[in-house]
Amino acid sequence: MFDLELTGRVAIITGGSDGLGRATAQRLAAEGCHVVICARRRDHLEAAAAELTKESGGTVIAQPADVSVPADIEALVAATVDRFGGVDILVNNAGASAASALEDLDDAAWQADIELKLMAAVRLCRATVPLMRERGGGAIVNATIWGGKAPSARSLPTSVTRAAGINLTKSLANEFAADQIRVNTICIGLIKSAQWDRRAGDGPVDEVYAQMAARVPLGRVGEAAEYADLVAFLVSQRARYITGTAVNLDGGMSPVV
Ligand SMILES: NC(=O)c1ccc[n+]([C@@H]2O[C@H](COP(=O)([O-])OP(=O)(O)OC[C@H]3O[C@@H](n4cnc5c(N)ncnc54)[C@H](OP(=O)(O)O)[C@@H]3O)[C@@H](O)[C@H]2O)c1
Repeated sequence: MFDLELTGRVAIITGGSDGLGRATAQRLAAEGCHVVICARRRDHLEAAAAELTKESGGTVIAQPADVSVPADIEALVAATVDRFGGVDILVNNAGASAASALEDLDDAAWQADIELKLMAAVRLCRATVPLMRERGGGAIVNATIWGGKAPSARSLPTSVTRAAGINLTKSLANEFAADQIRVNTICIGLIKSAQWDRRAGDGPVDEVYAQMAARVPLGRVGEAAEYADLVAFLVSQRARYITGTAVNLDGGMSPVV
C-alpha cells in the first residue's frame, strides 16, 4: 500500500488551468486534497475547476490571479484560508517559456520574467509559510527547468530566473526545515502541455512532439501526468525526509545531475 496520506490537505497550485498545473490539480484532488487553482483567464480557469472537480471526484476551487501582481497573490491566499482554513501545500507552477539571446532582450523583458518566475514564488512562499507553520509543517514545490543548472546559449532570461528559483528552493529548505516545511524543485525538460498546443498553431502537435523527442535521451517528451506524479510524491508523507532537492524531470536531457 502506497498511501500518499494527502486526504484533507489544502493545496494551492498556480497556473492550474492548463498543462502541468492542471494535471497536478487533478492528481492532488483525486488524492483527497482540497485544491485551489489560479490563472489569469477567468472563464478558462472556472471551466477547468468545474471539470477537475468532476474528473477527480474531489474539490477544486478557482481563484483568478496573475501571480506577477502582489495584490492577486494576497487575494489568492486569503480566499484559500477563507474557504479551507489554512494552507499545507504550495505548487509554484505558473510560468511561460522565455528563451532569447542577450541582445534581443530589454530591461522590461527581464523584469517581467523575474516578476513571473522569481518574485511570484518569493511572495507566495512568504504568504503561506506562516500558515504552514501554524499547522505543524507543509510542502512547497517550485517548477523550474534543467537549464537553470546548465544554461544553453540563447536561453535568457529563463535560465537565469530558473537558477534563482533553484537557489530559492535550497535557501528556503534550509530556513524552514526546523518548521517541518519541505521545499523542493522540479527541473523540467520537455513535457506535453497547452503551451505546445498553442505553438503548434493549426499544425498537428504530435509532429512538434516528435521533433522535440529527438532531443531527449529517453526518446520521447514527458506526459503532464508524470509531472503530477512527482509533485504528488514530493508533497506527500512518502517524501517526508526529502527537502532542498532539485529533481530533473527531463528524460535525461540535463548534462548535470
Ligand atoms: N511543458 C514544458 O515542456 C515545460 C518546460 C519547461 C518549463 N515548464 C514550466 O512548467 C510550468 C507549467 O508549464 P505548462 O507547460 O503547463 O504551461 P501551459 O500549458 O502554458 O500552462 C500555463 C498555466 O499557467 C497559467 N499562467 C501563465 N501565466 C500566469 C500568470 N502570470 N499568473 C497566473 N497564472 C499564469 C496559465 O493560465 P493563464 O494563461 O490563463 O494565466 C496556465 O494555467 C511553467 O512554469 C513552465 O515555464 C514547462
